[in-house]
Amino acid sequence: MKEALYEGKAKKVYATDNPDEYLVYYKDDATAFNGVKKGTIESKGVLNNKISAFFFDLLTKHGVPNHFVRLVSDREMLVKKLTILQIEVVVRNIAAGSLAKRIGWEEGRKLPVPVVEFYYKDDELGDPLINYYHARALNLATDEEMKALEHWGLKINEVLTNFLKDKKVELIDFKLEFGIHNGQLLLGDEISPDTCRFWDSETGQKLDKDRFRRDLGDVEAAYKEILRRLTGEVI
Ligand code: TMP
Ligand code: ASP
Repeated sequence: MKEALYEGKAKKVYATDNPDEYLVYYKDDATAFNGVKKGTIESKGVLNNKISAFFFDLLTKHGVPNHFVRLVSDREMLVKKLTILQIEVVVRNIAAGSLAKRIGWEEGRKLPVPVVEFYYKDDELGDPLINYYHARALNLATDEEMKALEHWGLKINEVLTNFLKDKKVELIDFKLEFGIHNGQLLLGDEISPDTCRFWDSETGQKLDKDRFRRDLGDVEAAYKEILRRLTGEVI
C-alpha cells in the first residue's frame, strides 16, 4: 500500500486515483487525554469504520451533507477530500466529562437545552474551548461558517438522538469535525464510540470510549454492542 498522506491517533488517510477522494483506514489504536494514555482496543478499527458508515448513511438520508462515499473493506472507507476546519464542534444533551467539571454539575444531569461548544483543534494547546470571537480573531472560520457549524451540530443532534432512542441508547454528547470540499461545507471525520458518549437508556451503562479513558473494562464489548444495536451485526 502507498504511504499514508496523514496518520492521526486513530486513522490513516491515503490518496486515491481520484483527486477528489481519500481512503480512510481505521486503526485499533486508542489514546486519551491528548495522547498521554495509549492503548489498543481489539477490532476497534473495524467497529468504528462500520459504525461511522452507518451514521453517515443515516445523516445523508436526513439531508446532512457529509464526506462519506462508501465502505471499501472492514477497516476502510472512501471519503470526499476535505480541507478540515481547525475547529471541533461538541454538542451536549446531558452534563458529562469536561462540561460537568467546568460548570460543577454532576455527570448525568440533563441540560435544559442542547449546548453547542467549539474547540480550537490544536494538540499543543490541548484543544482549548473557544467562541465565535476567537474563531474570527484566529481566522479559523467565517461567521457564516460558524453559524453553519452550529446549525448542523444541532440538526445532527436531533437526527442521532431520535434514532438512538429507539435503540435504547442515550446520546449524552459528541464531537464533530467539518471541512470544505469544492467550496461546500461537509461533515467529516468519524462518528463512533470514540467521539460520542452513549449510555444504555435503561441501565445507564457506558457504551463508549469512557470505558477506556476511565479503565472501566469491557471496552471491546461496549463498541460491539453499539454496532449490534445499530445494524444487528455481531462481531
Ligand atoms: P469532553 O467532555 O471530554 O469535552 O468530551 C465531549 C465529547 O467529545 C465526548 O463525546 C467525547 C468527544 N471527544 C472527542 O471526540 N475527542 C476528544 O479529544 C475529546 C476530548 C472529546
Ligand atoms: N482523542 C483524544 C486524544 O488522545 C482524547 C479523547 O478522545 O479523550 O488525545
